[in-house]
Amino acid sequence: MTDLQQPFQAPLRGGGGIILAIESSCDETSASVCVDGKILSNFIANQLVHEQYGGVVPELASRAHIKNIVPVVHTAIKQAASIHHSPLTIRHIDAIAFTQAPGLIGCLLVGTQFAKSLALALNKPLIAVHHMQAHVLANIIPQQLPDGSFTEPIAFPFLCLTVSGGHTQIVMAKSPLELAVIGQTIDDAAGEAFDKSAKLLGLPYPGGPLIDEYAKLGNPLAFKFAEPQIPALNFSFSGLKTSILYFLQKQEAGFIEANLHDLCASIQHSIVTILLKKLSKAVLQTGVKNIAIAGGVSANSGLRQALQQMGKQKGWKTHIPAFEYCTDNAGMIAITGYYKYLAGNFTDLSVSPTARAEW
Ligand code: KG4
Ligand code: ZN
Repeated sequence: MTDLQQPFQAPLRGGGGIILAIESSCDETSASVCVDGKILSNFIANQLVHEQYGGVVPELASRAHIKNIVPVVHTAIKQAASIHHSPLTIRHIDAIAFTQAPGLIGCLLVGTQFAKSLALALNKPLIAVHHMQAHVLANIIPQQLPDGSFTEPIAFPFLCLTVSGGHTQIVMAKSPLELAVIGQTIDDAAGEAFDKSAKLLGLPYPGGPLIDEYAKLGNPLAFKFAEPQIPALNFSFSGLKTSILYFLQKQEAGFIEANLHDLCASIQHSIVTILLKKLSKAVLQTGVKNIAIAGGVSANSGLRQALQQMGKQKGWKTHIPAFEYCTDNAGMIAITGYYKYLAGNFTDLSVSPTARAEW
């Protein structure tokens, strides 16, 4: 083992710790500062460059991360310092957490290399975080209320429906570091189903938020699309996309424009129904009734409403993260990093990112 491979053993200071976290797995450059388990800043720089291409262009995303990362980290520290009771600069950071996997490899390389360089320069420990685990743990971020107090986070064990652009999973969370995937998509992710359907309707990328917006004005039962029959707790969305495509191909010119709101509402209703049916099945199978959602699609207002309604009907305790912690953000990396810090779960400087990573 070389010096660089020696995991750093940080002295723990009574359970506390100041974590700087970096997220760069896809098209958001984000940094966050977490002090004693509370998120003091969560700064996110979006990349608008991809809109014109109808999807994230990996090469452009990596270049944008390189441009953004220094100012983003600087801003996150400055914002945290402005509300911290004692001085807070980069020298006060106890550990650096970063997204190690999964994601676009060029994008992950930028965040990883930045985190490694900082750890080496400051002689601080490094914490590698799995992006999907972090999405789940966004639910345990204490959220500050207007009176300055913090909300009660969800209690363990809980089930989390993690729905993003690349993943759709049901996760059993027994504790911050004991997470297991108990169901997942066998093809497209829920976010992809939103974005690909939006593309069929001629909407720009990313279409998920636009479908959400137009769905508010439409009838969710106007059109019916194929529902997949997939065993166990797994999902499939490729059939839905094909069903929408065939349906649209049969229509006359001008149909989409004339029915855009009803189409969006019906597509959203189909996706939400598929998700919640499997979630109900998972509750029955596990007996766990603390339910959370996470990932970009958890920002969808139809899903949020339907989950709350179903929770009331079935006696579930539901938890939905604040919007800023739903889509990609470093706050979720920071909270995961914080629990790994408490557990002394550090990585050495030989670490590299991986585009795909099971867990
Ligand atoms: O978690 P995320 O920000 O990035 C990934 O890790 O993939 O998720 C992005 C996905 C995109 O597919 C986007 O269209 C979808 O989340 N999304 C939404 C909404 N906001 C974001 N889908 C439906 N309704 C929304 N409001
Ligand atoms: Zn994500």
